[in-house]
Amino acid sequence: MASLRRPPRTRADPKVTDSATAAGGVPAGTTYKLVVVPGDGIGPEVILAGRRVIETAGRLFGFGVEWQEVLIGGVAIDAYGVPMRDSDMAVCAASNAIYFGSIGDPKYDDPKAKIRPEQALLGLRKGLSLYANLRPVTVHPCLQASSPLRPELLAGVDMMIVRELTGGLYFGKPSEQRTTSAGREVVDTLAYTEHEIKRVVKLAFELARGRRKKLTSVDKANVLSSSRLWRTIVEETKAEFPDVTVEHRLVDSCAMLLVQKPAMFDVLVTENLFGDILSDEASVLAGSLGMLPSASMGERRTAYGVFGLYEPIHGSAPDIAGKDIANPLATIMSGAMMLRWSLRQPAAADAIEAAVTAVLNDGYRTSDLMPSAGSGTTGLRPVGTQAMGRAVVAALVGAGSATRAGAR
Ligand code: IPM
Ligand code: MG
Repeated sequence: MASLRRPPRTRADPKVTDSATAAGGVPAGTTYKLVVVPGDGIGPEVILAGRRVIETAGRLFGFGVEWQEVLIGGVAIDAYGVPMRDSDMAVCAASNAIYFGSIGDPKYDDPKAKIRPEQALLGLRKGLSLYANLRPVTVHPCLQASSPLRPELLAGVDMMIVRELTGGLYFGKPSEQRTTSAGREVVDTLAYTEHEIKRVVKLAFELARGRRKKLTSVDKANVLSSSRLWRTIVEETKAEFPDVTVEHRLVDSCAMLLVQKPAMFDVLVTENLFGDILSDEASVLAGSLGMLPSASMGERRTAYGVFGLYEPIHGSAPDIAGKDIANPLATIMSGAMMLRWSLRQPAAADAIEAAVTAVLNDGYRTSDLMPSAGSGTTGLRPVGTQAMGRAVVAALVGAGSATRAGAR
């Protein structure tokens, strides 16, 4: 899996290219087949901003995108009566990658509801075997004031949370409520096979090897059998990666360390539900849930890389939907991850990340990123969703022309 090692970063050096080989071996003019799922709530708004950034990157770096939009989630329940049609699943499966907004709608939150938007997302993850969810957490220095944590705690934070995504409590059977003579009872099942644990743990080791070579495996081995097998498999796998230092942390203590000493973490690997919870917690370090992108990847390779689904980790945020105030940066950075991992366009990915850094340094802030009262807002430029997207596009184009001018 050496291909999963993160390609070296050239954040400050976005390159505009038109030669056939410059995009890492993908011929210039390649057109990718991408499925786009705007979804519910703020999904359509953040995806619109993200699409514009990817299209701009395509013009600058010499590739095209053929978007195929599908309705999945609450919008699909409204339109078709199911959260995802089989035919749409097939469209997703046949694509080069999936660009996903968010799904979830309070009108389907009734605990008795049999059909829920989230079933579609879980169906995609399971049906496409997207077993590894990569959630990078980095802190842009200029966003330190946006986090409630003290700046000295945030210095040097750069971690990759690897969340197992197709097993554990999300999928274990039985998962049901029953009625017995004693009343109602309920069961969820935390099940893993050896194979499921091994493949995600191995991938996390690979990632650690390409970074600072430290792996933290998070479990609850003092209580759960599933965690004890998890820990055993991490110990067994360690021998294949003698260059990586491994530590085991219990999930409760890890939750505390994430806000107490966040810079100590490099790669974290953990089961599905623990990863869901810890990654939302870790987003506080980055200043907002609206800053965390993610990649969900499986074993399948396409002509260009690993097949995957790319989505911000935030949900559909129905309370702010349709107001043009949501932060599109997590979605935009998910697009960069898609270009890097699934489409073999590392230079375009680097350029998008550099453009995001540039707009943040220039003071652009959606409301979630505004520092709390008293921290000072001088020089900051409050913007809405599409204006933030346009600022990233402008930074991308600007960096491109600067590079061209420099080369003349
Ligand atoms: C996430 C989300 C999903 C999850 C929900 C929407 C089902 O919270 O991607 O983290 O729990 O996995
Ligand atoms: Mg979550």
